[in-house]
Amino acid sequence: MTDVIIVPHLHAGGAAAATLLAAVLSQKPDMVLGVATGSTPLPIWSALAAMRLDMSRVSAFALDEYLDLPPGHPESYAAVVHREIAVPLGLNPRKVHTPDAQADLRDAPSAYESAIRAAGGIDVQVVGIGRNGHIGFNEPGSSLSGRTHIANLAAQTRRDNARFFESLDQVPTRCITQGVGTILDARRLILVASGRRKADAVAAALEGPVTASVPASALQLHPDVVAIVDEDAASRLSFADHYRMSAPHGDAA
Ligand code: GLP
Repeated sequence: MTDVIIVPHLHAGGAAAATLLAAVLSQKPDMVLGVATGSTPLPIWSALAAMRLDMSRVSAFALDEYLDLPPGHPESYAAVVHREIAVPLGLNPRKVHTPDAQADLRDAPSAYESAIRAAGGIDVQVVGIGRNGHIGFNEPGSSLSGRTHIANLAAQTRRDNARFFESLDQVPTRCITQGVGTILDARRLILVASGRRKADAVAAALEGPVTASVPASALQLHPDVVAIVDEDAASRLSFADHYRMSAPHGDAA
């Protein structure tokens, strides 16, 4: 089932998620962490880094990667994960994985699935949500049981991510992403969302029908999901009062 924790702002959400991750890490110092790019999870990484935990034995797997960028491009998710997550958290670079966009694309998806399996599966996967309800780069219409695959980015996603590039033209059109089925294999999921522009997607994902039109709605099928959303992102939820009353720790902030 999904626990929904509504926090006043993004930073409180980062602290709440970091606390959950630190608890898993204390039980399993070599945990397998699923990391997500995007702006929303950034406060998680900074809150976790501030705890100064030994994360050198942790393995990390990213959800997705752009295709068709030159190797080492600063906006490739390999570079972003290294800069924004691996370095601040003190992860061992050899244990940090992103789908290999430079490899033979016929092999890269299954190689990524094999690497996740070889690491023992993902213990906790952090997931953001796109304005169109995507998770990873599984855009509306994606199979809800899909595995890691090559996909095209939705026009909305390219526009949303254009802020990281000099122009819209430079945003890749293709990606390699964990499938929704791959994401659902993680033992635990933490969905984070912030801001009014995510409110419709959050409501559809948490309270709407499970549908390929909103890939994040597949999280309803997972037995252990914590959704940490700020007040703005929660503003279209019908049952917000109920979540506030049922929150496991009261106000997680
Ligand atoms: C990208 C990533 C997604 C992420 C989304 C939201 O499209 N591929 O995994 O969830 O951005 O990003 P933000 O948190 O910056 O809104």
